[in-house]
Amino acid sequence: MISLKNITVHFGKGTPAFRTALKNISLKIQEGEFVTVIGSNGAGKSTLLNAIAGEFIPDAGHIWIDEEEVTQDSTSTRAKHVARVFQDPVAGTCSHLTIGENLALALCRGKSRSLKRAVTNTSRSAFQNILKPLNLGLENRLDTQMAMLSGGQRQAVSLLMATLSPLKILLLDEHTAALDPKTSRFVMDVTQRIVEEKGLTALMVTHSLSHALQYGTRTIMLHESQLIYDIAGEERKKLTPQDLMHQFGSSIDSDRLLLNT
Ligand SMILES: Nc1ncnc2c1ncn2[C@@H]1O[C@H](COP(=O)(O)OP(=O)(O)OP(=O)(O)O)[C@@H](O)[C@H]1O
Ligand SMILES: [Mg+2]
Repeated sequence: MISLKNITVHFGKGTPAFRTALKNISLKIQEGEFVTVIGSNGAGKSTLLNAIAGEFIPDAGHIWIDEEEVTQDSTSTRAKHVARVFQDPVAGTCSHLTIGENLALALCRGKSRSLKRAVTNTSRSAFQNILKPLNLGLENRLDTQMAMLSGGQRQAVSLLMATLSPLKILLLDEHTAALDPKTSRFVMDVTQRIVEEKGLTALMVTHSLSHALQYGTRTIMLHESQLIYDIAGEERKKLTPQDLMHQFGSSIDSDRLLLNT
């Protein structure tokens, strides 16, 4: 479970670039919920995910993971529970290491003292079993450098890496935005499978209104640093991307969001 109470985040205090990125956000996400996050550019979506990951201490408010308050905890402390995948497929993996070495490193996430990138025979077969369900043939390419893979393949491996060691929370920030529509659907399906299989609590930022409704169990919208919409259950199932557009057309940057309905 993730709880945010009255979270406010400012950037550039005391400078002309001063900006309130999150304004008094309160939000409770139950264990196993998969929340899609929408809103126009600059609405505060990435800041919300960064606040949960512990990139900075909010200017006001409190954050809990399960019953534990983590407001003052660093990203490395929270890494025991929280994993992230970003927009850029290159960001989540090490280009000069092989697929196997990347997976071996991923196993060490949240463990500061035992970084090992050695791929043993035991881990080889474990990694092959992890890669097989992707149906990309990567299980036969453990010794291939990550740099040789396409963006979609890399993003699929990033997802596996992010969720390899035990975790509770998965944060996805436009992780399919750099992919073509077919590859994006593929990576989304992998995402949904992993979240369900591992019972993760997930937040996914997307500019695709159809993905926002098609995947996950709940959708929230941010607008000008505030939470302005929160829908789940039967009511959400009936919604179409067009409904979202019509309902919020006046308050969101509709051109930007329409691009990907
Ligand atoms: N590290 C930072 N320093 C200064 N300002 C920042 C920083 N991070 C975000 N901001 C500002 O906070 C606001 C919210 O930014 P954020 O990145 O959360 O938006 P977003 O909803 O993720 O937008 P996008 O859809 O473009 O990714 C923006 O005005 C942005 O310029
Ligand atoms: Mg963003």
